[in-house]
Amino acid sequence: MEQDLDPRVEKELKQAALLIAQAQSVVALTGAGISVESGIPDFRSPGGLWSKYDPRTYCDYRHFLQQPQLFWEMAKEMHEEMRNAVPNAAHMALARMEREGFLSSIITQNVDNLHQQAGSQKIFELHGNAIMSTCTGCSIKAPTINCVAQAEVVKVPKCSLCDGVMKLDVILFGETMPSSTLQDAMQAAASAHVLLVIGTSLKVSPANMMVTLCQQQNGRIVIIDPDSSLSRKADVMLCGPAGTILPRLSVMASHLRNVSTEAAKKFATSESGGSLL
Ligand code: APR
Repeated sequence: MEQDLDPRVEKELKQAALLIAQAQSVVALTGAGISVESGIPDFRSPGGLWSKYDPRTYCDYRHFLQQPQLFWEMAKEMHEEMRNAVPNAAHMALARMEREGFLSSIITQNVDNLHQQAGSQKIFELHGNAIMSTCTGCSIKAPTINCVAQAEVVKVPKCSLCDGVMKLDVILFGETMPSSTLQDAMQAAASAHVLLVIGTSLKVSPANMMVTLCQQQNGRIVIIDPDSSLSRKADVMLCGPAGTILPRLSVMASHLRNVSTEAAKKFATSESGGSLL
């Protein structure tokens, strides 16, 4: 049974669905909030990862080079949460929107691989992916699950070939991200008629630049997040959990694409629930 949405959200939902239904290109920008309903805490909400681990010490590249055991202490916990996680209704809705041809790509800050597990294809991972790790000495790769098992015993997992320190394939603060991924993501954001921003506080760059790049080309910003303070950055703000709102939005947009523009506009501006038929 569907959870009732606040009537104000219902109204905004129609606006957002109309924008998406009429857009040539829709791109999603996702953050840790989209995976909260899969059991992975985000970073900056109360009880988030940064309330336990200071990112300046545990998630900083220069610190990693000097004291990798601190990073691995945090990485073990992150990995444990990711290992048991499965995609939720929000991830599945994005994968369906891509299959139905009205989502061009996903720009994600997440390293949890849940978009891939949901079946999404075109994904720009700005901060890397935690499934694999790489030796900082000889660049050989190994599954992170093996490194975490090692870290349970020796604190810092080492390379089996050169004894170098292993590092998750994620981008730490102060580390340069692959320029090709960033360029592709910036291009996707700049060409989006609608940027669907889901579960990110927009506090980290260059990810938060995607909103500006889209707006500079007259693109529209739809935000899905329980934190209403983000509404100042949005054309349409959908306040609530992504796992409830996104499946509704994708179904409504899909329906609106199949009716006349007139009927779609009438539906989107109607006060009452009304139907599309
Ligand atoms: N549905 C939608 N949004 C949610 C949900 C939910 N169920 N639960 C929480 N959120 C929102 C929060 O309100 C917040 O705005 O998700 C956002 C999470 O913000 P952050 O914790 O700051 O995570 P994110 O924006 O992804 O962080 C960006 O910062 O710490 C670095 O590398 C890390 O990739 C990360 C980057």
